[in-house]
Amino acid sequence: MVQPRGELAIRVFAMPADANPSGDIFGGWLLGQMDIAGGMAARDYVRGRLATVAVDAMTFKLPVFVGDILSCYGDIVRVGRTSIAVWVEAWATRANGERVKVTEGKFTYVAIDAKGKKRPIGEG
Ligand SMILES: CC(C)(COP(=O)(O)OP(=O)(O)OC[C@H]1O[C@@H](n2cnc3c(N)ncnc32)[C@H](O)[C@@H]1OP(=O)(O)O)[C@@H](O)C(=O)NCCC(=O)NCCS
Repeated sequence: MVQPRGELAIRVFAMPADANPSGDIFGGWLLGQMDIAGGMAARDYVRGRLATVAVDAMTFKLPVFVGDILSCYGDIVRVGRTSIAVWVEAWATRANGERVKVTEGKFTYVAIDAKGKKRPIGEG
């Protein structure tokens, strides 16, 4: 059985307020949860302030339903001079216990200083 790639970063209930007008979960909410999860993985490495600079190779494979538990996993795939890329997978646990990968993508973050300017990773 295929297992999630990376470390568990967040786990959250998909609530009615996160749904689109059709009643399924809104892609923007899911993207936001994945951004948070990738940011947590990156911050554990960078240990400082970050800004999201890019989201690539995003694929929505299956829908998320209200009442699913969403689990997001992060795996650091590249560390550059000022940027860090994290592969993020989102998995949904359905009400019947079934667990499926719903979305994945690459999130890139830049280490920034107090003024919001990029700074080399590894320097305070
Ligand atoms: C992030 C930010 C500080 C970068 O500043 P910048 O001076 O333009 O930075 P650069 O273009 O030199 O890129 C910095 C790093 O990001 C990487 N990067 C830039 N654009 C990228 C992209 N589209 N995909 C992947 N990496 C990218 C660069 O390769 C570089 O990495 P490296 O130093 O490890 O080689 C600036 O663009 C910014 O403030 N953006 C807004 C961030 C934000 O508000 N995010 C939240 C959105 S709601």
